[in-house]
Amino acid sequence: MAYAALRSIGAYAPKNILTNDDLTKMVDTSDEWITKRTGIKERHIADKDEFTSDMGVSAAKLAIERSGIAKEDIDMVVCATISPDYFNMPSTATMIAKKLELNSVTAFDISAACTGFVYILSIAKAFIESGMKKNVLIVGAEKLSAITDYTDRGTCILFGDGAGAAVISATENKEEAIIDVHTAADGTYADLLMTPNGGTGSPHDALESEAAGVYMQMKGNETFKVAVRTLTKDVKDILEANNIKTEQIDHFVPHQANFRIIKAVGDALKMKEDQVVVTVAKYGNTSGASIPMAINDIYEEGKLKKGQLLLLDAFGGGLTWGSALVPFSPLK
Ligand code: UT7
Repeated sequence: MAYAALRSIGAYAPKNILTNDDLTKMVDTSDEWITKRTGIKERHIADKDEFTSDMGVSAAKLAIERSGIAKEDIDMVVCATISPDYFNMPSTATMIAKKLELNSVTAFDISAACTGFVYILSIAKAFIESGMKKNVLIVGAEKLSAITDYTDRGTCILFGDGAGAAVISATENKEEAIIDVHTAADGTYADLLMTPNGGTGSPHDALESEAAGVYMQMKGNETFKVAVRTLTKDVKDILEANNIKTEQIDHFVPHQANFRIIKAVGDALKMKEDQVVVTVAKYGNTSGASIPMAINDIYEEGKLKKGQLLLLDAFGGGLTWGSALVPFSPLK
C-alpha cells in the first residue's frame, strides 16, 4: 500500500506591511487594543496587481525546490483559498499550475476557509493512498486584503495576505507517512463568519452585490468561544484515536487567528510553550495560508528536523475544523 509523506514546505509573504499604527489611521482602534486582544502587530499586504496565484507560485517554487522531487513529477495541484484570483473560474490551482508550467496535472480549489490547509492535506493523502496520484502540490494562498472591509475595526485588524505550500508524495515506508487527518464542518454556524454578498445565495443582483461588496463579516466573540472549544476537543480526539501523548508532539501548529485562542487551546492541552508555534504577531490571520506559513517559519529557523512530529489544528468559516498528525519527512 502507498502512504503519503510530507516532503517539504515553502511560503511567501508580500513585501508591504500594514502595522497596527497604520490601522489607527483607518479605524478607531489602537496598537494597545490590537496587541492585547489578538497578539497581532503587523500583517503583509499584496500589491494590487499581485494575484493569489502569484503568491501561491512563490511558495510552491520553494516547496518544490526543497522537496527533491522533479517539477515534472507533480501530478496534482490543490489550492485552498477563500480569496481566489477569479470568482468562479478558472480555479486558482489551475493558474498556479499554469504559472509553474505544470501542463498535464489535475488542478482544483477547495473552500474550507481557515481549515483549508488541513483539508487539502487530507485530499492529498487520500489521492496518494488510493494510488491515483504520486506527488501532490498543496497550496494555501490568500489575498484577504481584497475581501476585508477596512471600515470595520472588528475584522480589518485581523487579516493579512500570504501563501504556503507543501509537496506530499507517495512512500512505502509507514514510519514517514502522515499518521491521520481529521476534517469536519457544521453549517449551523454559517453566519458567524461569512461573505454574505455576491454569491447565488445573495439577495442582490450581480451589480448591486458588487456595490455591496463581498467583504468578510464576523461575529468575533461568538466565533472565539466556539474556536477554543472545538480546537481543543479536536486535538484531544486525534491524539486519543492514534494513541499519541501531548509530550510526543514536537511542534503544535495551530491556525493563527488570535494569540488568545492559541494560548487557551495550548494551555487546555497542557502544551509546553516551546511546543507551540506562534506567528500571528507578524502575519495576522492568513486563513488557509496560516498553517503552512507557520510551518515554513520553523523550517527556515532550523527548528523543524527530519522525523519530528507536527500536530496541526485549524478552525474557520463554514464552520469548518480539522487536525492532523504529520511527521516531517524530507527526502534530502
Ligand atoms: O480564523 C477564523 C476564526 N476566527 C477567529 O477565531 C477570530 C475570533 N475572534 C477574535 O479573535 C476576537 O473575538 C476579536 C479580536 C475579533 C475581538 O475581540 P473580543 O475580545 O472578542 O472583543 P469583542 O468583539 O467582545 O469587543 C469588545 C469591545 C467592544 O466594545 P464595547 O461594546 O465593549 O464598547 C468592541 O466594539 O472591543 C471593541 N472593539 C475594538 N476596540 C478597539 C472591537 N474591535 C476593536 C478594535 N479596536 N479593533
